[in-house]
Amino acid sequence: MNEILVLYYSRHGATAQMAQHVAFGIESLPDCAARIRTVPPVSTLCEASADTIPAAGPPYATLDDLRECTGLALGSPTRFGNMAAPLKYFIDSTSSLWLSGALAGKPAAVFTSTSSLHGGQETTLLSMMLPLLHHGMLILGLPYTETELLTTTSGGTPYGPSHTAGTDSKRPVSAEEQQLCVALGRRLAAASRQLAAG
Ligand SMILES: Cc1cc2nc3c(=O)[nH]c(=O)nc-3n(C[C@H](O)[C@H](O)[C@H](O)COP(=O)(O)O)c2cc1C
Repeated sequence: MNEILVLYYSRHGATAQMAQHVAFGIESLPDCAARIRTVPPVSTLCEASADTIPAAGPPYATLDDLRECTGLALGSPTRFGNMAAPLKYFIDSTSSLWLSGALAGKPAAVFTSTSSLHGGQETTLLSMMLPLLHHGMLILGLPYTETELLTTTSGGTPYGPSHTAGTDSKRPVSAEEQQLCVALGRRLAAASRQLAAG
């Protein structure tokens, strides 16, 4: 079984919805399962440490989740054109995996949600790829054979799926955005299977 980690942070639920669609795409291939994980918010109170188990939703990610997965889909809301701090904080804890090369050669892909159409989807997606490249992961995007890339009037980029959630974060994931999330999950699962088979 190829277990692909879908690791995301979401404050208002938009990136969480995208993660579910990516997971659906992953699980549409035989022998492929999605392991969905999130990360806790970063506290401004350094003295306080967060509970190790969230009150609701998927469990918090551990380094073992990264070690054990055959591929990674990483999702974050856009924050000032970049990934959200809680996700970056978790990634900054992965030095031991970098030292051992545990993620080198595994396929990875990224997805994001913004409030506004031109609010930095591409910059966020591209900058999310940087630590994954340092880990030696093989980055996948979306090809234009996924025709929703040409027809979407909201999110969707060749660098990865994206969603325009609106200022109140309430706009639903559009049909095109959803299709592109599913396509990314399928593509990641197919690459994981091929690479795992050698
Ligand atoms: C600190 C902060 C910075 C943000 N920066 C941007 C931004 O640069 N561009 C943008 O379009 N939206 C920005 N947003 C809005 C979030 O990207 C948007 O609410 C996101 O889609 C919510 O995702 P979620 O529902 O998964 O939490 C920002 C939100 C916060 C709290």
